[in-house]
Order: sequence, then C-alpha cells, then structure tokens
Amino acid sequence: MQEQRVLIAGCGDIGTRLGLKLAAEGAQVFGLRRTINQLPDGIHGIAADMADPASLANLPECDYLFFTAAAKSREPGVYRQTYVDGLRNLLAALPSPPRHLFVTGSTGIYHQHEHDWVDEQSATDPTTDSGRCLLESEQLALHSGIPATIVRFSGIYGPGRDHLQRRVLEGIAAPAEPLHYSNRIHRDDCVGVLRHLLRLHQDGHALKPVYLASDDAPTPIHEVMEWIAEQLGVTITRREQVRRGGSKRCSNRRLRASGYRFQYPDYQSGYRALLQR
Ligand SMILES: NC(=O)c1ccc[n+]([C@@H]2O[C@H](COP(=O)([O-])OP(=O)(O)OC[C@H]3O[C@@H](n4cnc5c(N)ncnc54)[C@H](OP(=O)(O)O)[C@@H]3O)[C@@H](O)[C@H]2O)c1
Repeated sequence: MQEQRVLIAGCGDIGTRLGLKLAAEGAQVFGLRRTINQLPDGIHGIAADMADPASLANLPECDYLFFTAAAKSREPGVYRQTYVDGLRNLLAALPSPPRHLFVTGSTGIYHQHEHDWVDEQSATDPTTDSGRCLLESEQLALHSGIPATIVRFSGIYGPGRDHLQRRVLEGIAAPAEPLHYSNRIHRDDCVGVLRHLLRLHQDGHALKPVYLASDDAPTPIHEVMEWIAEQLGVTITRREQVRRGGSKRCSNRRLRASGYRFQYPDYQSGYRALLQR
C-alpha cells in the first residue's frame, strides 16, 4: 500500500491494530481520538472530539477513511453523539472526499429474536435507542455521497475482552432455556476483515454497501460457556442470563464469498488461543 493516506477516526482497539498493519504495509496512517497519548509509533495522532466540530479543523486529506468510534456508555445521548453526530461532523470537516469510507457497525440493529438466520438483506427494525442510532449512522454513511461500506460486527471477543471467561470463573453459565444464540467474531478477524475489504477495493473490486462480519458458527450461549468451563476445569454452580437482545444467527456468506478466510472460524479456535495465553 504505497503512500496511501488512511484516516482512522475513533482509533481504539480495532482501529489501532488495523492502523499498525496498514502502516507496516507502507500507508501513512492518521489516528483520530480524544486522547492520543496511547497511540503507538507509526500512527500519527490527531487529538479531536468528533462531537465538537470546532476540534475537527485541519483534518488531513486521505484516500481512505475508517470510522471505528465506539460509545463509552450505553446512554442514548452518548450513542447519538458518537455514532450520528460524530460521523456527521467528521464528514462535514473533511477537506476533500476520500475514495472510500468504511464504517464499523453492529449486528445490534437486527430485531429478530426467534433464532432466525439474518444476513445483509434481512429487515432491520432495532428495538433499542442504541440500535436506532447505529442504523441512523449507517444511513448517514450510505447517503453521504462518498462510496461507503458498513461492516456489521457481531460480539467481539479477544484479549482484554474477557467478560464470558470471568462469568465462567465465578461458576456462572447461561441457562439452556430460553435458548439464546450468540454470534461472535475474534478481534483479530475484525481487523482482518477491514484489511481484506480495503485490499479488495484497492485491487479494483466493487464492494457491497454492507457486510456482516461474524464467525461461521452461531452457537447457543450456554454451550459456549459450558465449553469454556470445561477448558478451565470450572464447575458451573449458577445459571444466569448473560445476553441482551434477541436470539438470532448471523450469516457470513457474503463475506466468505468475497474471499475472506477467518483466522478463528468458530468459538473453540478463538477461545482456545485466548485461554492458552
Ligand atoms: N464491542 C463489541 O462487541 C462490538 C460489537 C459490534 C460492533 N462494535 C463496533 O466496533 C468498532 C470498534 O470498536 P473497538 O472495540 O475498537 O472500540 P474502542 O476500543 O472502544 O475504540 C473506540 C475509540 O473511539 C474513540 N472515540 C469515542 N468517542 C469519540 C469522539 N467523540 N471523538 C473521537 N474519538 C472518539 C475512543 O477514544 P477516546 O475516548 O480517546 O476519544 C476509542 O479509542 C466500534 O464501531 C464499535 O461500535 C463493537
């Protein structure tokens, strides 16, 4: 990726890992966030708050723009400020349009709850304020006039994201009834998918407006937790619901058809690597 300029707005966990990979491949990478002192060498920090248009003066020109910001809390106001106002302010502040815009979305916009399979064509009618903000953010990107792609991640797990393991270590697992499917993607695959789609674009392939990014194996959450317990040698002593939202199964067929190969295609391969750490 010779001398291409990439701006990653909301440069946190996923953004930073993506930025480092692209920088290693020769891109000039800018990482925008409010606190830039944690950004590693190789990523040029831009200290700005996307909720505050005045702080977005003097953005650099870029070939590619990634919007990977995440709300710090589940409050509707914070969601709106981050995903809707933040993206709108950012796009308005760009000195010129990039060749392509990538936005990381979420499978939280699906309302389905009867274990249905969902894909990019499925209806989206979010039942929560946070889901509605995420959908509005997608629409904003897709109608921005800049060629855009939304990547809807399911539940991200990986180093530092050990919520499930911690519950299991307390002897807690989800009950088998009511059945609840969970959909996951390892953090390294989130980065891999974004890089893969960028490469496709650079190689002249047309991208779809939306990709659902989730591993191959939606699995009932109690099975995942029982498997982790087995690996850790923990006895389950309590059953508690651990999931919000509806039970659905996310299809990654479109992403796979685009040529992406998962590093961790199922929860066993991903958690095994994590537990070995
Ligand atoms: N967690 C999940 O399971 C999940 C599931 C589906 C989708 N996603 C999506 O995946 C994407 C990547 O998530 P991640 O794990 O990399 O998140 P992360 O580590 O929390 O990074 C998000 C970054 O956004 C920055 N940010 C937030 N508000 C900002 C603002 N107003 N102005 C500028 N920067 C701002 C934060 O930095 P500062 O605080 O320094 O500004 C932070 O570094 C997000 O879009 C998230 O919504 C996550």
